[in-house]
Amino acid sequence: MQETKTGVLVVGAGIAGLAAAFAADRAGADVTLATKAERPEEASTWWAQGGIAVTRDDPEQFAADIRDASAGTADPDAVEVLVENATDAVRDVLIDAVGIEFDTNGDGYDFGREAAHDEPRILHVDAQTGKHIHVPFLNYVADETDITIREDTAALELVRHEGKVYGAILERDGDWAPTFAGATILATGGVGALYPRSTNPDDATGDGIAMAALAGADVADMEFVQFHPTACHTDEGTFLVSEAVRGEGGVLRNGDGERFMPEYHPDAELGPRDVVARAVRSERDASGEVRLDVSGFDFAEQFPGLAAKCEGHGVDWESGIPVAPAQHFLCGGVAVDDRGRSSLDRLYAVGECSRTGVHGANRLASTSLLEGLVWGLRAGEDAVGHPVERIEPPELLERDPDLPANFAREKFRRLRRVMDQQVGIERTSEGLRRAQGVLRRLKGEVDAYVRTRTSRSLYELRSASVVALLIARAAAENDESVGCHYLADADAAAADEQVPAESP
Ligand code: SIN
Repeated sequence: MQETKTGVLVVGAGIAGLAAAFAADRAGADVTLATKAERPEEASTWWAQGGIAVTRDDPEQFAADIRDASAGTADPDAVEVLVENATDAVRDVLIDAVGIEFDTNGDGYDFGREAAHDEPRILHVDAQTGKHIHVPFLNYVADETDITIREDTAALELVRHEGKVYGAILERDGDWAPTFAGATILATGGVGALYPRSTNPDDATGDGIAMAALAGADVADMEFVQFHPTACHTDEGTFLVSEAVRGEGGVLRNGDGERFMPEYHPDAELGPRDVVARAVRSERDASGEVRLDVSGFDFAEQFPGLAAKCEGHGVDWESGIPVAPAQHFLCGGVAVDDRGRSSLDRLYAVGECSRTGVHGANRLASTSLLEGLVWGLRAGEDAVGHPVERIEPPELLERDPDLPANFAREKFRRLRRVMDQQVGIERTSEGLRRAQGVLRRLKGEVDAYVRTRTSRSLYELRSASVVALLIARAAAENDESVGCHYLADADAAAADEQVPAESP
């Protein structure tokens, strides 16, 4: 592979990476977009169902919904950036430039409603919005811009020196070389591969977060791993059952057929996602199963794609869709400002691998595509104009063909088990302490291999082990249950404190 140079290097081709590349290209930069994906469905964007929220008549209410869903922890300035730019970004880029046709009804756009939104404000295409955005956006970038797209190409390491990033080492087919860039934008998505059940594609190994953290960039809010309340797990795999189904009137029932959500939250099925996810888990534990009852409306008519998916997975949705929580989104990531700038010079992060402050401890539904789009555009524009400088790149070791075939598989299995059991939807201080011990040992074993070999799967494993440890450590350092970070023992201790002392 040849050493190359580019004005702006974007790593990752979900909505955030595409938006960043689009904006940098529009601002006149020479842009390279590197993605380890070979097919669109390897990006989380493709899998998004519900849609993309926009600002309608009441921006302040939209901002308030985001802050409330985050239990008051979202950064109000970041929320304002999102809300103020939402409608223009969606209209100018997705509708006018890319030509996406969101669903309409007789009155115009058919705005959908999801949990914790005060009003219907979600643009969607059926409940398969992700792929209807991702594929045309990819095609637009490929056909209508000068962006160089390098598929099946992973970033292994950042090229850096003294707090400044000069590009990245890119790998394809076991061969690698540096690409030097005036600015590098990470858009590598989430961390679904760290958990046994996730709504993300398998490739979501947290590469961007790990590369940035190893280069010394600040990360934040790593303990806030969001679990979606309604995923359907079958022998065929896990698939998401969009919150939009509850927005249309889907009702959660336990194994005894009882509707339970009104006991957990005044907004019942449309309560904040973390509350609904824990309730589903607890009712499953107590009664054996939870089903999403869709008999109150015409499910097949309103959600044809989901109805077909249920049928394809052998799920008889007419008797209620069996659901359970699954890992869905990481609210934290590489700490960035309102233009996606990280703490390292010339390094940006956008989309799920970043932490903008918009989500705080818990993300409001249908704001992830929006955040990726808005911050992608802002970062892409900001990243233009830096000189491309060459420095001595880090030396990676020759590929060793003797890497044991089962090595990555076995380590991933161990990592997922500990993340599921100790760093999942419900945590305890003791469990987090034990998890850190296991993860530290595992990372040590992986690092020993990385010191002697180079391969994409090994680097993905390294990313996963670095990010798992960051999550476990952040969770252990936060002794307050808030949003997606729920400490069962802290809750029990707080309940004990509230028991009135017996009178003497
Ligand atoms: C969903 O459709 O339920 C997912 C939407 C989101 O995660 O924002």
